[in-house]
Amino acid sequence: METSEETAKESTTVEKKITKLIQQMTVDEKIGQLSLVNSIYGKISKSLKQTIADGKIGGILNEVDVNVVNELQRIAREESRLGIPLLVGRDVIHGFKTIFPIPLGLSSTWNTEIVKQCGRISAREASAAGINWTFAPMLDISRDPRWGRIAESFGEDPYLSCELAKAIISGFQGDDLRNPDCIAACAKHFAGYGASEGGKDYNTTNIPENELRNVYLRPFKAALDAGAVSVMTSFSDLNGIPASANVFLLKQILRHEWHFEGFVVSDWESISQLSVHGLTANNREAAYEAANAGVDMEMVSRTYADHLADLVREERISEDQIDIMVSNILRAKFRLGLFDTPLTKTDRAGNGKPHKHLEAAKQSATQSCVLLENRHGILPLSKKELSSIAVIGPLADDPYEQLGTWIFDGDRDLSQTPLNAIKAIVDDSTEIHFCRAMETTRSKTRKGFGEAIKVSEKSDLIILFLGEESVLSGEAHCRADLNMPGNQNELIDEIAKTGKPIILVIMAGRPLLLEEIRKKVDSILYAWHPGTMAGPAIADLLFGIESPSGKLPVTFPRAVGQIPIYYNHKNTGRPATDESIIKIDDIKPGTPQHSSGDTSFYLDIDNLPLYPFGYGLSYSEFKYSHLKLDKHRIKSGESIKINFDLTNTGRFEAEEVAQLYIRDLVGSVTRPVKELKGFKKVRLRAGETASISFELATDYLAFYGRDSKLITEPGKFHLWVGGCSDTDLCAEFEIIE
Ligand code: NOJ
Repeated sequence: METSEETAKESTTVEKKITKLIQQMTVDEKIGQLSLVNSIYGKISKSLKQTIADGKIGGILNEVDVNVVNELQRIAREESRLGIPLLVGRDVIHGFKTIFPIPLGLSSTWNTEIVKQCGRISAREASAAGINWTFAPMLDISRDPRWGRIAESFGEDPYLSCELAKAIISGFQGDDLRNPDCIAACAKHFAGYGASEGGKDYNTTNIPENELRNVYLRPFKAALDAGAVSVMTSFSDLNGIPASANVFLLKQILRHEWHFEGFVVSDWESISQLSVHGLTANNREAAYEAANAGVDMEMVSRTYADHLADLVREERISEDQIDIMVSNILRAKFRLGLFDTPLTKTDRAGNGKPHKHLEAAKQSATQSCVLLENRHGILPLSKKELSSIAVIGPLADDPYEQLGTWIFDGDRDLSQTPLNAIKAIVDDSTEIHFCRAMETTRSKTRKGFGEAIKVSEKSDLIILFLGEESVLSGEAHCRADLNMPGNQNELIDEIAKTGKPIILVIMAGRPLLLEEIRKKVDSILYAWHPGTMAGPAIADLLFGIESPSGKLPVTFPRAVGQIPIYYNHKNTGRPATDESIIKIDDIKPGTPQHSSGDTSFYLDIDNLPLYPFGYGLSYSEFKYSHLKLDKHRIKSGESIKINFDLTNTGRFEAEEVAQLYIRDLVGSVTRPVKELKGFKKVRLRAGETASISFELATDYLAFYGRDSKLITEPGKFHLWVGGCSDTDLCAEFEIIE
């Protein structure tokens, strides 16, 4: 670790080198640095090589053959006039060869160490292929499970997303980006993409500035404070200005307020798409708008390459502005040490210790599963008591579908499926009857049902693996109907008729609707897409080698009509009370309009979500008690120490996520009814009590007020601790003037 003096000295040296380089560059070479080219189209063609030799490419994406990357880097270093190395980008989102749970699953671990490890191992594996830059983490707050990209997010909460952003960035970037196994991170998509209207991808977003600052921007700020080298703009239109031309986001917030010194890259063709949005009439104007807003590098489309030189000649864009854009990119290349060591050692492929990577993938998958239901403690299963198990479903033995959305380079041959893991874990005397039942989760025939019923009837218990295949979530894969796709609900109905106990394991990229299903099965383990080691992780959980410890990073609705539904909502002026809620079936003919009490609820559905944020069962039980605050009145700048006992009152050693929430009762802008402000994952033996403490500084209570400034206001707060957002162990404190 360097001292701050050393860092300052080094950054002065780097700035001098940047200035010197820029002084030697032609305008064309400068514009070349702003171009990010998709190598798949180029496939190391003669023209790609020549363009690099001409100094007209700043980086490539999607090349993963280390020999090809090295050859391109060699050309950039040795054959281009100024020898500027290339950025080599790739979507390494939840693993490279070894696949970890999708980000929503990683988020369910509530375990920063595990998330950091995912970043570290991903970086180690990807850098062996010559990649020096990942397009991750995705930090879009997501409150809409229809949106396919919720799978790529850390969920609905700003605090959890901030903590996990810091963790994964420190994993990707390591202690020193110059190390050969470290890669640059890219905080994306700046900003507000998660609010896509109707949960449909690429759609318009309208977010008031106050909400933007208090909710959507927070994880980005945390990512930049953690040293993320780059930021990617969002495809979406924010309040009328697409993000790739949004001066408010890119200049005002990013540069003026946050003093970001890294570089901004567009999303794929999002600059040329400014004309599709209808913001600009052609590519030339699109290039102008994006450059003027501060997008430094253009991904794939060529508006900069084709038009920036003219715009400079016409003095619409100044060369100084181009120099700033170039220097932002060169700074990253220096930070990555690419001028000193542009080539990747080819013997690094495979990277030595794949078993350690698999072990980490298993641990993260184990911790990412959330136990939603466990009637009569049916889980964990006892090997001794089961002579036969039916394993049924299209996701029980599919090495590809368990991996999740962003797995360009994921090695499906490494995948260990639940079926194989269950076979490996049970005693020889236990028969396993497998039936896929449906070809895919979307199948609409009942062809496999007969066989599924047959194997169910001859088994003591059924483990069903249903949900969504990987391709049903992720970019451009949104759904308006959040029921299990295909005939899966019918399959559950048929199997339930056998009367045998049913354990339902769901793999999916988003919360699905489970209100009816949960009545028909005995247990639900929500596994998201767990990645390479799905099988061993799930088998360990089913058979009690580990207790589930995942907690939901996102609220589960009862119906699509409740969306958006999230725990940290505002109170409204007329919140529903138990007494004020009336049900559609109870309304008598002629009932007067205002007899219900006029509060905020739906007539035709329960007002609460099906499963709240932070929820997740364990095989054990936990009691929270003796909540104490060291003081109840603090001044701005001070902090409170919060202490409580957490007791494992059940029969199993298990981990619990202790969560801390607050509510700011009165604010100059209205505040959410609850906000997460801390969490700790703790392992306790049966009967063990741990004393847990949190320190809550008033900085954590600050919010953006009416004039868009971060403020801490005096006033009263409620504070809760517990294992879920709907906890009721509460205390009060006050910030005084
Ligand atoms: C488009 C996606 O929106 C973005 O997240 C991704 O990094 C780029 N394509 C590059 O593949």
